[in-house]
Amino acid sequence: MPTTKDLVSRDNFGSKFGIIAAAAGSAVGLGNIWKFPYVAGENGGGAFLLVYLFFVLVIGVPVMMSEFAIGRRGQKNAFRSFGVIAPGTKWGVIGIMGVVAAFFILAFYSSVAGWTLEYIVISATNKFAGQTPQDLNASFNTFIANPLRPVIWQLVFMVLTALIVLAGIKKGIEKYTKLLMPILFLLILILCIRSVTLDGAKEGLAFLFKPDFSKVTGKTILYALGQAFFSLSLGMGALITYSSYFSKKENLASTAVQVALADSLIAIMAGIMIFPAVFAFGIEPSSGPSLVFITLPGIFQQMPGGSVFGTIFFILLAVAALTSTISLLEVVVACFSEELKISRKKATVIATVAVSILGIFATLSFGPLENVKIFGMSIFDILDYTASNVLLPLGGLLIVLFVGWFAGRKITKSELTNKGKLKATYFPYFRFIVKFIAPVAIAAILIYSIFWGGL
Ligand code: TRP
Repeated sequence: MPTTKDLVSRDNFGSKFGIIAAAAGSAVGLGNIWKFPYVAGENGGGAFLLVYLFFVLVIGVPVMMSEFAIGRRGQKNAFRSFGVIAPGTKWGVIGIMGVVAAFFILAFYSSVAGWTLEYIVISATNKFAGQTPQDLNASFNTFIANPLRPVIWQLVFMVLTALIVLAGIKKGIEKYTKLLMPILFLLILILCIRSVTLDGAKEGLAFLFKPDFSKVTGKTILYALGQAFFSLSLGMGALITYSSYFSKKENLASTAVQVALADSLIAIMAGIMIFPAVFAFGIEPSSGPSLVFITLPGIFQQMPGGSVFGTIFFILLAVAALTSTISLLEVVVACFSEELKISRKKATVIATVAVSILGIFATLSFGPLENVKIFGMSIFDILDYTASNVLLPLGGLLIVLFVGWFAGRKITKSELTNKGKLKATYFPYFRFIVKFIAPVAIAAILIYSIFWGGL
């Protein structure tokens, strides 16, 4: 058990809204705004959305509750929290995998986040004007292949992330997410309104909301589960770390539900903002990862006030990415500072420098290091693949096994009910899911993605 001194000296979130803003800030990111629309677009639109929402509720929320229970019980970084609950066991390895996953995700995520900064400047200076889709495609590819610019933007982004993390939980993460999340919501709302008022918006909305079940295949189901994990920030201890700073009064179950609702709402709003525009301007909804960086600028430059809406959009993307990267960096910083017994400042500097070095390799893999292949994949792709398809599902699987079979019913129930103060009529269902349903479902995506390279 942590001593009173540990508890007193550890920083904490100061308010309920701060907790929701930080956790939702971690969840809402490039995964919602950049990835969700194109994955949904490639997998049948409305049908994908339904399967996705089903997984968020039935598997995502229980896994999130499990991470919250571990973190708040442990009151330590993701590695040590397991040791507090199960002393002398090897479960802490989940936390170490989490630190590795944080490194990998941050490396490629900060690369894309850096592109959003370049695109803020391009839109604000109205450089999209008059470009054909081919021009936009060419300028995007030239930009990401440049040996310097994307690296500089990536480093700028990492420094921003580090500055917030350095300031601590209450004065850094909580303060900025409380400010940035409402701004993000407002910006998305503005763009949704712009998009649904375009001529031809109806078709886009129908694509998103009218499910065509003939499009649901095994692949749709597996992609939807993978997307739910990534989007909710599950499987690598980000939420274990955050919840270790939650107050003992926080209702973990309702927090998990609220964060999942906020995350899904923003993903749906991202769809509402993107698909009507895509249809109104006659673009394929399944145009893949470039949807945001090539297709949308094409759309913005055809609409009145496009430069303004384009700038708003890329600011929004950068803000969403920033509140996610801080949660990833915090996993590493909490672990380094508590385990290596160094100051938070030193831990942040070491973690940021180390992540940035790896990140530079990821970014350069679109240019000078384009021919470096590991198992046939570029450095960027191998980092994304290993983290998203192996480490996250494996971490998630071990987390539910730990909570379902090892941590014991009593500890879990005590955390979820705040020592019996809250009612938990859902508890038997929760137990059943973490013991049986979630492990089987997660094992299925893991096996699929490792052996068939599917996700
Ligand atoms: N959830 C974020 C997104 O949707 C990304 C992210 C932040 C993440 N922290 C994470 C993903 C931890 C997996 C694990 O963009």
